[in-house]
Amino acid sequence: MVPASNIVDPVMGPTSISHHYQNRVVVISGGSSGIGLGISHHLATLGATVVIFGRSQDKLDAATAAIAGQGGNAVGYSVDVRDAPGIVERLADVAQQHGPLDLVIAAAAGNFFAPADKLSANGFKTVIDIDLIGTFNVFSAALPHTRKPGGVLLAITAPQAQRAIPNQAHACAAKAGIDMLVKCLALEWGAKGVRVNAVSPGPIAGTEGLARLSATPEIETAVRNNTALKAFGEVSDIARAVAYLGSPDARYVTGTILDCDGGMRLGNFPSL
Ligand code: NAP
Ligand code: COA
Repeated sequence: MVPASNIVDPVMGPTSISHHYQNRVVVISGGSSGIGLGISHHLATLGATVVIFGRSQDKLDAATAAIAGQGGNAVGYSVDVRDAPGIVERLADVAQQHGPLDLVIAAAAGNFFAPADKLSANGFKTVIDIDLIGTFNVFSAALPHTRKPGGVLLAITAPQAQRAIPNQAHACAAKAGIDMLVKCLALEWGAKGVRVNAVSPGPIAGTEGLARLSATPEIETAVRNNTALKAFGEVSDIARAVAYLGSPDARYVTGTILDCDGGMRLGNFPSL
């Protein structure tokens, strides 16, 4: 009897996710808390060197120390995704130090609960700048340093991209822009050997993003009931989806939005 770990499937070839991230270089904006931190932990546990961008040095230090405490390898750099020249400079440094970038994740975002008629021009612009333009800044600066072929660019989007949600005009517009950006870049950069995809989390328990949209227990219940599964997701659900899209298991997948949202994008008819 051949041990299961030594069997090579004639169709699938050697299995990949658990081996793929050994010595790979992963960059993640917004990897210092919440969903991004969960992704950072997971990919570091799988063997990647994880380079984290965020604004607060204290949050970066706490994140990299936690990953090191688990035996992983992570470094953090304070940089704002709205600072396009700063991102260009930092990614060039990272590539010089660590080599080609295998997976670049744009997870940084800003959001708040605000009716559109109470939103200033700067409030709307701020979310577009961080989410949509910040994602473009990270991807375009990463492209020259991304492994070719085989590199992957991955955005974190949201169901707001596909479904109008009250008090979320700014986030809906920004995330819808990200979804189309992902498709356009996948189309243009596929021939360079780079895949471009997104993961769309639904409401994820214990995160800042969910807390900001659930001011009261009643609203939290309504948000949960807005998913088809009537449940919040976990950070680990998103980390697993990212690990799949960033690995060769997804080598023929590009320009896709992987909805990991409990069905939130589908809409809901509570009275039916
Ligand atoms: P979070 O904990 O607040 O994480 C946001 C991260 O982005 C932090 O590391 C933050 O660090 C960084 N960041 C924010 N603005 C930045 C900027 N201008 N430049 C660089 N880094 C910046 O939020 P989260 O709830 O986990 O959300 C993470 C991602 O998942 C976001 O893209 C969000 O839209 C998406 N998402 C979340 C949910 C949810 O239920 N939580 C649902 C759907 C989609 P600093 O503050 O130190 O900069
Ligand atoms: N409602 C309405 N407008 C708001 C707001 C709210 N709750 N919070 C901020 N704004 C407006 C501000 O009033 C300002 O507009 P103004 O100049 O016309 O007054 C504009 O947004 C920028 O605010 P500022 O605080 O200067 O932005 P910042 O760049 O320091 O921070 C935010 C960006 C506002 C998105 C901040 O909440 C943030 O850093 N968030 C990151 C964490 C996060 O949002 N996590 C969840 C991710 S889904």
